[in-house]
Amino acid sequence: MKVSKYLLFVVIVLPLALAGCRGEKFQSQPVHPNLNMDQQKRFEQQEKNKFFADNRAMRMPVEGTIARGNLKEDKALYQGINEDSSFVNEIPVDVTKSFIYRGKDRYEVFCTPCHGIAGDGNGIVMANNYGYVPAPSFHIDRLRNQSDGYFYSAIANGIRNMPSYATQIPVKDRWAIVAYVRALQQSQNVSEDEIQEYDVDLSALEDDFQEKLAAEQAQKEAQAASGGGEVSVDRGKTVAQNNGCATCHSTDGTKLVGPTWQNLYGSERTFDDGSTTTADEDYLRESIMEPSAKVVEGFPPSMVPYDYLSDSEINSLVAYIKSLSENAE
Ligand code: HEC
Ligand code: HEC
Repeated sequence: MKVSKYLLFVVIVLPLALAGCRGEKFQSQPVHPNLNMDQQKRFEQQEKNKFFADNRAMRMPVEGTIARGNLKEDKALYQGINEDSSFVNEIPVDVTKSFIYRGKDRYEVFCTPCHGIAGDGNGIVMANNYGYVPAPSFHIDRLRNQSDGYFYSAIANGIRNMPSYATQIPVKDRWAIVAYVRALQQSQNVSEDEIQEYDVDLSALEDDFQEKLAAEQAQKEAQAASGGGEVSVDRGKTVAQNNGCATCHSTDGTKLVGPTWQNLYGSERTFDDGSTTTADEDYLRESIMEPSAKVVEGFPPSMVPYDYLSDSEINSLVAYIKSLSENAE
């Protein structure tokens, strides 16, 4: 009998008692027999400290202090600029083949989603019309003629609506990407003479090109036949949606990055050089194709040219903007 009582305790009562303790939080401090100087009097950050005249426990570093590894004196390397703050013309590190390949790899990770695998601005983010501000193609003269430092700065600091990639991409990799973007630009802008230097079958390329042209032409004609070339307010609204205009332009008078389109048509515009004009159709057309020609006073010159839109798309946009105005006849 004695044995079985003992067994009863061990087999049933003890496990139940132990199981009953599970899930309960311990309220008192854990026992900490050897303190090892684990707890000491000290100040938390931002805490007061009457010892100093300014009552702050946190002290400013001594003037001229630079954290280890943060000197970054080389402006060309770290900021892509010269002493006079202009962008450096050339990549300030050795450009080797493997460096460019590193750039390709990083470009494809970080830039392709928006700028596209070929740098034409047709990344998946743009192609799917998520409403993001369009990324420009790198294969336009304005960007072909930019200095290397400009591209570096776009990655390091961001540019207009594009965020900075400084946290994601270390300095050397930024330059590698610049080198690769340069290679991409050259790949899309080679003269025939230059191509002749390589073992390339030009006639096959030419055939390919003609085939593509014909396909594009056929597509355009098909569009035109199905009313694709029409000019209408509705189409203008769709084109505006598909090109992300609404990220910067409201239609209800709200000021966003750019001026509102409400009552824009027919109104008097003032530009940053002090000149004025009345917003007629030609002005709207120009504002879309070449926004830097006249920059509206009080706004940054941050709109990219939409000169790749077709005539009927532009005229539809103009019709749409016109329809938002009480001044429209
Ligand atoms: C999330 C989308 C996105 C990603 C990713 C992105 N960009 Fe951009 N980029 C843009 C947009 C949008 C603009 C145009 C911004 C504007 O005009 O307001 C732009 C503009 C630029 C410009 C300036 C072009 C001009 O018109 O002057 C450069 C250069 C550039 N990007 C390089 C890069 C590089 C290099 C990477 C990869 C490290 C990158 N971008 C990644 C969206 C992106
Ligand atoms: C990245 C922001 C941005 C996007 C996207 C954008 N714009 Fe603009 N737009 C501006 C800014 C900023 C101005 C004023 C500065 C200037 O005149 O360049 C402007 C000016 C204009 C003007 C002249 C407005 C006025 O008050 O006189 C028109 C018209 C215009 N944009 C049309 C468009 C159309 C159409 C689209 C889409 C296809 C578009 N914009 C996309 C920023 C943008």
